[in-house]
Amino acid sequence: MKQVFTGIAELYTPRERLERAAFAVQDGRFVWVGAEDSLPEEYRGWPRTDLGGRGAVPGLVDAHTHLVYGGDRLGEYLKRARGERYEAILAAGGGIYSTVRATALASEEELYQLAKARAALFLAQGVTSLEVKSGYGLLPEAELKMLRVIRRLGETLPQRVFPTLLAHVVPKGWEREKYVEMFCQELIPEVARSGLAEAVDVFCDQGAFTLEETRQILGAALSHGLKIKVHAEQIAHTGATKLAAGLGALSADHLEQSTPADWQALAKSGTVGTVLPGASVILRKPFPDVRAMWDAGVRVAIATDHNPGSSPLYSPWLGMQLTVSLGRLSVEEALVAHTENAALALGRPDLGRVEVGAWADFVVVDSGSALEALYRWGHTPLHAVYVGGAPVFSPI
Ligand code: NIG
Ligand code: FE
Repeated sequence: MKQVFTGIAELYTPRERLERAAFAVQDGRFVWVGAEDSLPEEYRGWPRTDLGGRGAVPGLVDAHTHLVYGGDRLGEYLKRARGERYEAILAAGGGIYSTVRATALASEEELYQLAKARAALFLAQGVTSLEVKSGYGLLPEAELKMLRVIRRLGETLPQRVFPTLLAHVVPKGWEREKYVEMFCQELIPEVARSGLAEAVDVFCDQGAFTLEETRQILGAALSHGLKIKVHAEQIAHTGATKLAAGLGALSADHLEQSTPADWQALAKSGTVGTVLPGASVILRKPFPDVRAMWDAGVRVAIATDHNPGSSPLYSPWLGMQLTVSLGRLSVEEALVAHTENAALALGRPDLGRVEVGAWADFVVVDSGSALEALYRWGHTPLHAVYVGGAPVFSPI
C-alpha cells in the first residue's frame, strides 16, 4: 500500500513546523516527509490524496485511561461539587468501590459496548492510540474479565489499544497482605502468561497502596517481563515517583503533589511524567507546575485519565488547553505532550510523530492552521483521522 498526501498547508511533526507539506506512506508507515515542492521523483507516481490546504498534526495518544467501567458517578460529582471530598467518599466505601460494584453487575458484552462507544468519541477527537486499564474488578476473575474486554477492544477498534493491569485499591473484606500476595503470585503471572496486559500500574496513595506494597507489585511485574507505571503523588506525597524512576517505569502519572526532587529523578531516568488535567481540575487539586517540570528536563505527557469518578473527561484538546493555561506550557509543547511524549509513556517512539519510520497515524484539522483545534475552546474542527495511513474517521 503506497500513498502520497499533499495539500497540507501546515504540519506539526510535532516538534517541527512545515508549511505546504507532503508525506508518503508505505505499508502503514511514513517513508518521506517534507515540503510538497521537494517531493522526490520516486513518489510522484504514487496514488495521491489532496488534503485541500488543511493543517495536520500527529494522531493524539492517550496514555492513561480507565475506559472500561459500568455505571456512572454523577451523584458523587454533584456531592463533590457541594464540597464533599473524594478521599472521604472513597474511605466510606464509595468512589472507586461504587464503580467496582457497578462493573461487577455488567456483563462482559455490556462492558465492551460501553467502552466501544466511549472509544468512538475519542476517535472523533483524533485519539489514535489509547492505553486502557483494568482496576475496577479487584478480584482476580473480575480483573481478568476487564482485561478480556480490553483485548476485544484492541481486536476490533480502529485505534491502537495498550492494555494495563491496575492494582487500584484493596477489595473490601480482604487483608491487605493477602491481597498483595495474590496480586503478585497469581494475577500478575496469569496476565503475563496469557498476554492480557503489557504493563502493570499501581495506585500508590493514601486510601490505596503504600509505597512498600507498590514496590512489591512493581517488582513482581518486572520479574514477569511486564512494563510498569504508577499513579503517583495525586492525593498525598508518597515517594512513588522516585520509586518509579528508580525502577525504570514508563511513566509516573498525576503528580499534583510532586516536588522538584521528584522531577529531577524523572529527568534523570527518562521516565515520563504524565499530567492528568481532568483529574486535577475536576477534583479541585492544585494544578501541577508543568512549566517547572518541563524546564527541569522531564519528558511531560498529558492524558485524559478518562474514568467515571475523578475525570469524566472526553476531550484531549481541553486537557491540552488547561495545561497551557494552568500549567503554563506553550501550545506547541502541549501538542508534543499529547503526541510524541505520550507515545514514549507507552514505550512507543514509533507513534505520535510524523517522521520517517513512524506509523502513519495523523489528524487533518478542518482549517489551514494546524493548531486551530487548540485555539478554539469547546469546538474541535477536525476533517479526518488516519491510522496507519488509512482513514478511520471523518465527520459526516
Ligand atoms: O486516575 N486515582 C486513582 N484512580 C483513578 C480514579 C478512579 C476513580 O475515581 O474511579 C484516577 O484518577
Ligand atoms: Fe488513573
